[in-house]
Amino acid sequence: MTTRDRWRVYKTLCLMFVLAVVTLTVVQKGGVNPGTHLQPDSQARVEVVLGSKMKGYFSVSSRFWKPYKPQPEASTELPQVTQDWAAGMWDVTSSNCSANLNFSTSDWFVGLEPNFKQFLLYRHCRYFPITINHPEKCTGDVYLLMVVKSIITQYDRREVIRKTWGKEQVVDGKQIKTLFLLGAPSSEAERAHHQKLLEYEDYIYRDILQWDFLDSFFNLTLKETHFLKWFSTYCPNVHYVFKGDDDVFVSVENIIDYLEMSRNVRNLFVGDVIFKAKPIRKKENKYYIPQALYNKTYYPPYAGGGGFVMDGPLTRKLNLVSDTLELYPIDDVFLGMCLEVLQVTPIKHNAFKTFGLVKNKKSRLNREPCFFKSMLVVHKLLPPDLINMWKLVNGNITCSQKLAIL
Ligand SMILES: *[C@@H]1O[C@H](CO)[C@@H](O)[C@H](O)[C@H]1NC(C)=O
Ligand SMILES: *[C@@H]1O[C@H](CO)[C@@H](O)[C@H](O)[C@H]1NC(C)=O
Ligand SMILES: *[C@@H]1O[C@H](CO)[C@@H](O)[C@H](O)[C@H]1NC(C)=O
Ligand SMILES: *[C@@H]1O[C@H](CO)[C@@H](O)[C@H](O)[C@H]1NC(C)=O
Ligand SMILES: *[C@@H]1O[C@H](CO)[C@@H](O)[C@H](O)[C@H]1NC(C)=O
Repeated sequence: MTTRDRWRVYKTLCLMFVLAVVTLTVVQKGGVNPGTHLQPDSQARVEVVLGSKMKGYFSVSSRFWKPYKPQPEASTELPQVTQDWAAGMWDVTSSNCSANLNFSTSDWFVGLEPNFKQFLLYRHCRYFPITINHPEKCTGDVYLLMVVKSIITQYDRREVIRKTWGKEQVVDGKQIKTLFLLGAPSSEAERAHHQKLLEYEDYIYRDILQWDFLDSFFNLTLKETHFLKWFSTYCPNVHYVFKGDDDVFVSVENIIDYLEMSRNVRNLFVGDVIFKAKPIRKKENKYYIPQALYNKTYYPPYAGGGGFVMDGPLTRKLNLVSDTLELYPIDDVFLGMCLEVLQVTPIKHNAFKTFGLVKNKKSRLNREPCFFKSMLVVHKLLPPDLINMWKLVNGNITCSQKLAIL
């Protein structure tokens, strides 16, 4: 790229950012007609994560909200958790970590696809420095910390989340906080064009955590482990954590209702859990895993990474366990592996459907506010649809008639 091209790209990006801010301000002030832009993304999978105001809307409603009955406690709890708040600092200061060439000439390695090679060469690099931090985020009594996986270029999604479900607020005396989790820009051009904007965004909103590892698909597990470590370092008093993607719809109110009903559950981990998932062996699939990386028939139970909820003490246990396991390239499966070591079975909740809700993409459910009003997390909504749906759901709708889901 010539300097001139770069300048042009940079100018375009600045302009886009300003436009996004202006648009969102206008939208927030009600200058945009709700309901004019509700075409669901044609490739959308609808994911639903938790429903509350279900009663009377759906015939299946009562099942959604049946409080979870705790299973008898396992007699041994693994491992013993010692809490050490003394650290209170991100203690990783060097990014130096060289490739592990120990197996680079083995036959099984040579035959792998380049992304798996890269993953394996750097798999032992566990922690990186933090470049944007907010140690103050968890001070006081935080009830629910919402953390959202995001990448540097998707500021529009962050912007909309801040205006909708990610808005920091106090509900019935319960503090809710939001953070976005980011890695380093994935190219020099991205660094040149976006890093400063990101820092400015953080200067305004104070809700970005960024670490110095490449923000790639296979490094999502690093994002997971870095968050767990960060949480264990800075958040001794947070009751619950919601972790999810930046393209979902979340009903915070419904999540709080659910958590209130599950108040006595220890080791709470709830989401769209799949049991006995098989590793995907088709090379063209995004989630393909070669035999050399995982050779068992099934994965342990795990919750789809689109959105799930866990309690604070469990989050700290997961941090300790994650350090004892080798990194696995799929972040939600990796967390399932950690839960397995802890002997915690994640809870499957019908209102979390992060693996797709309505197969028929033209289904009116995909644009039905009464449906969204009943849910916990719905995937997939991009910024304009999310903000419109948000206004509809939080506006004056009366949802009286029954909707037949599925
Ligand atoms: C990191 O590596 C660079 C170059 O390899 C070296 O100059 C630097 O001293 C290293 N830093 C640390 C903290 O090891
Ligand atoms: C590579 O192998 C050597 C010798 O077996 C071992 O000491 C070292 O820890 C290995 N490197 C990594 C990164 O695992
Ligand atoms: C993950 O991030 C590290 C640090 O930036 C990088 O060296 C490594 O190549 C990345 N791994 C993948 C699979 O992208
Ligand atoms: C599966 O992998 C483990 C560890 O990598 C190895 O010890 C075991 O022999 C493998 N099993 C099969 C059936 O290939
Ligand atoms: C919303 O509902 C309230 C109370 O039911 C009513 O007074 C108000 O006029 C409604 N607003 C709109 C815009 O429909």
